[in-house]
Amino acid sequence: MSSRAEKDHYIINGGNPLSGEVVIGGAKNAALAIIAASIMTDETVTIENIPDVRDTNVMMEAMEGIGVKIKRVDRHTIEVNGSCVENVNIDTENIRKIRASYYLLGALLGKYCHAEVPLPGGCDIGSRPIDQHVKGFKALGAKVTIERGIMKATAEKLNAAHIYMDVVTVGATINVMLAAVMAEGRTIIENAAKEPHVVDVANFLNSMGANIKGAGTDVIRIRGVSRLHACTYSVIPDQIEAGTFMFAAAITRGDILVKNVIPKHLESISAKLEEIGCDVEEFDDAVRVTANGIIEATHIKTLPYPGYPTDMQPQAGVALALAKGVSTITESIFENRFRYVDELTRMGAHIRVEGNTAIIDGTDGLTGAHISAPDLRAGAALALAALAADGTTIIDDVRFIERGYEDFDQKIRDLGGDIIKTDDVKQEIKRSKFRVV
Ligand code: UD1
Repeated sequence: MSSRAEKDHYIINGGNPLSGEVVIGGAKNAALAIIAASIMTDETVTIENIPDVRDTNVMMEAMEGIGVKIKRVDRHTIEVNGSCVENVNIDTENIRKIRASYYLLGALLGKYCHAEVPLPGGCDIGSRPIDQHVKGFKALGAKVTIERGIMKATAEKLNAAHIYMDVVTVGATINVMLAAVMAEGRTIIENAAKEPHVVDVANFLNSMGANIKGAGTDVIRIRGVSRLHACTYSVIPDQIEAGTFMFAAAITRGDILVKNVIPKHLESISAKLEEIGCDVEEFDDAVRVTANGIIEATHIKTLPYPGYPTDMQPQAGVALALAKGVSTITESIFENRFRYVDELTRMGAHIRVEGNTAIIDGTDGLTGAHISAPDLRAGAALALAALAADGTTIIDDVRFIERGYEDFDQKIRDLGGDIIKTDDVKQEIKRSKFRVV
């Protein structure tokens, strides 16, 4: 065991097929934007189905740091009142931790015509430019500067604009939507991202009195309104949490009913699972994935929605590492998303990365190892690999996984997986049946 073992670890004993039911929580990436957007009215907004994960909690703490009042009604419901924002210059430890803090730029700029926010952190999955956010804000009439790591956007008044996004970006589409909601006139965003959470944020803003049409298509039209008002809104289910548990069934040769989902949002994932030999049964708000036989090889390319999501790429990589034959995965959104490959190789996978393509030669089985979670989705995928592996796996740095998955280890235990979370690996190994690797 390496000296890396200090805290935030999973110990996983592989071999149990996961089976049973799992209930999916609210979409992290929708919730983050919606929580930020809720300050755009001075009235109290109620948001339901917020996942209780590290990123949403950090976002709320950061907002409280600038005077926003947030009442936790229950574990998944909050009331937000943004009438007491004291400061549009946000520079706190918290805000630097998460990428989605940039939504406060759009929200504050849209409401106060002024915002100062440090440039985002988040998962290290490749260079993450913000030129399209800047381009959109400028088109709406804001002066944008970046100094000492802080982006400052300021305008006397925001005016509608016709904006053509050079790349399909979820973040910039949502941010420009936020900034344009109260700009005078009709803003048009072309080549907009069509992800379910873009639609969810638009629906939320419309519930607050905005006039946004076309979200979910590549042209979004926003007629500026003079003010927004209170509303109660429930965040959509998390497409990626759902997809992760769907792949958990494939990887462990299990049978999982994934509940509280919108099957339409999962179509690209369901299609790949069927292609590799799983049965996928759709219900109104659930999908059941059953994997009995061998996993077949396939080819995957990540694309903007409705294509196969980049956030589901590592989970597919693990499944294909266990497939019969040679598969390829081409990552076309972020260049640094194969950081799980080295760890998976240590578990016995045969994967070669050439440029933005991983060539995966399937193997019969993986073996437990001491590994670490390189980022949120890669970490979750490696946990699934460990559940299918022979023997014990120790995963370090699982705080990354907790950025986006609520009760991840508990949900896996409820499905029959042998996983515990511990601060003290040595102690846990001593008193348990785990075989030390
Ligand atoms: C969001 C998600 C992330 C997901 C990604 C793609 C959040 C908090 N994160 O990230 O989990 O992996 O969508 O579905 O919601 N780009 C530019 N210029 C810009 C902005 C983006 O060139 O100004 C490029 C990026 O480098 C990337 C592509 O556009 O290649 C897509 O990025 P984007 O959709 O903006 O991702 P995020 O919003 O950062």
